Amino acid sequence: MANTLIALFLSSVLLFQVMSPSFVSALSNDYYAKTCPNFEHAITGVVKKAMANDNTVPAALLRMHFHDCFIRGCDGSVLLNSTAKNTAEKDGPPNISLHAFYVIDHAKKAVEDLCPGVVSCADILALAARDAVSLSGGPSWEVPKGRLDGRISLASDTRQLPGPVFNISQLQQSFSQRRLSLDDLVALSGGHTLGFAHCSSFQNRIHNFAANSDVDPSLSPSFAANLRSTCPIRNTVKNAGSTLDSTTTIFDNAYYQMILQGKSIFSSDQALLTNSRTSALVKKFATSQMEFFNAFAKSMVRMSSLTGGQEVRLDCRVVR
Ligand code: HEM
Repeated sequence: MANTLIALFLSSVLLFQVMSPSFVSALSNDYYAKTCPNFEHAITGVVKKAMANDNTVPAALLRMHFHDCFIRGCDGSVLLNSTAKNTAEKDGPPNISLHAFYVIDHAKKAVEDLCPGVVSCADILALAARDAVSLSGGPSWEVPKGRLDGRISLASDTRQLPGPVFNISQLQQSFSQRRLSLDDLVALSGGHTLGFAHCSSFQNRIHNFAANSDVDPSLSPSFAANLRSTCPIRNTVKNAGSTLDSTTTIFDNAYYQMILQGKSIFSSDQALLTNSRTSALVKKFATSQMEFFNAFAKSMVRMSSLTGGQEVRLDCRVVR
């Protein structure tokens, strides 16, 4: 009997070890039911107000959450400020263009007023990203909660984020390292239905693309010409760039329609047509907004279930 118990114990330890730590801590829909009921309304109110003043806020919150989750799990590490001794994720190259951090500060303040020291910054960011999508006309979903905030935030880690010049196998690898599938990749890339890109993020497609063509031949010629006039080779306008789809503040399926027309912005968007499975999904989402919304909501829950923190911060910018 004792031997059986020991064997059982050892095999459960082994099972625990082989499971990725990122999926070990359990999130739940009613995590704060007793400790902070109804706090989600406070976050929605803050996001709504910020959007009314600045229509670029939803895109910023959605991307911020994605960049948080892909580095050390969704642990609010992207929210931490650099210190004298440490350059934080926020100041890593791909994150320089993240913005609207103040919205999370305001949401945290509203939640702290209701129940001090209870709700993590990582959960607040996950909820704010969901609200950003639904308040822009996209789907809504229940966000499982219980993430903890991390204490480590290194600018050098941001090298692990997927880049806009990635091909399909690099994208697949980046997602599968986080246990996300090709289907998740296609659905989550639909986040590019909101927001904006600076010229530097897509200049590889419009200048010196290859030895025999200056411009990426998969781009529609008229679309490429427009991008080239906004982003000349020696661009001096600091904030020059392009919206990611034709309806930049509306969460819809226009992004997928644009990919099919050769009007996507990044090589990584266009790359979704270079694999039979992902290409079929692009076509499905381009014709059915409902299919896209359902898939997006499911994949967001999967992405935002990557966890990794240890504490509940009081100020989202500073470790406790
Ligand atoms: C698949 C790999 C991805 C790559 C390579 C990628 C790359 C980029 C790049 C380069 C930018 C523009 C940055 C700039 O020039 O300022 C951007 C913007 C954006 N990305 Fe992605 N992204 C990816 C996936 C995602 C995912 C999964 C989401 C969310 C679910 C997302 C949401 C956004 C949003 C909303 C913006 C606009 C941000 C703004 O206007 O402030 N991206 N992305």
